[in-house]
Amino acid sequence: MPTMGALHKAHLELIRVASEHAGKDGEVAVSIFVNPLQFEPGSDYEKYPRPEKTDEEFCRNASVDLLFRPAAEDLYFEDRSTYVEEASLSSVLEGKSRPGHFRGVCTVVAKLFNILAPDAAVFGEKDFQQLAIVRRMVRDLNFKIDIIGVPTVREDDGLACSSRNQYLTAEYRKQATILRKALLKGADMARAGETSAARIVSAVRETIGQAPLARIDYVDLVDAQTLQPIEVVSQNSLVAVAVSFGKTRLIDNILLA
Ligand code: PAJ
Repeated sequence: MPTMGALHKAHLELIRVASEHAGKDGEVAVSIFVNPLQFEPGSDYEKYPRPEKTDEEFCRNASVDLLFRPAAEDLYFEDRSTYVEEASLSSVLEGKSRPGHFRGVCTVVAKLFNILAPDAAVFGEKDFQQLAIVRRMVRDLNFKIDIIGVPTVREDDGLACSSRNQYLTAEYRKQATILRKALLKGADMARAGETSAARIVSAVRETIGQAPLARIDYVDLVDAQTLQPIEVVSQNSLVAVAVSFGKTRLIDNILLA
């Protein structure tokens, strides 16, 4: 199970799913690596939380069998010149806002897969696009690894757990609950028969706008398979949002049934 650390209850749920999948004779490995390759210049790479002792304790308490925590210089050669790039699903949503991000993710995930050689790997649906891209990479490059998706784990008020939530001030944290409310509004509309993507997107944007400190990066309605924008909602449509509160950028998504 690949992570960047600052472990929280969503990571614990992923570890639980991994343990369940591994069975009593299997083993669970967790990696903690804040991957410089997936941070754009000027982003929060330096500032990203690295609570090493707490994370170690967390893994011990969760009965993780192996904790892999390499240093950046152990994983990357200075003169590296090989990268893994998924070239279709990566061009939209997060990929559009964060150029190079998924190249960094794919490269490090492929390296971790080669180093640890797991039979299966777990990823969260909070990062829906990342999960889709990893699945595509595994298919296209013939990794013999089962990819297991885990539903988004949320705080009691609906905010998706994230290592970045700890950056939020009390006021931002309160207003951040608008993301889930807005996505539920979109899902309600679809359930009530609304098929216009534009109308759903505009209702979601309007709801997010009720939080005065929210700055919308994108609200997109896409096909959950191809991640391409759609105009008419059908089964397997996804609303994905990225919203900043101050310098903290949050993402969330919901599948429209
Ligand atoms: P990180 O943000 O630490 O997340 C590690 C795993 O936990 C990812 O699969 C992510 O989708 C999952 N996760 C995080 N918050 C979640 C939530 N609220 N509900 C469900 N799953 C959640 O994602 C990364 O690290 C990195 O990009 C990585 C894959 C490790 C590559 O560097």
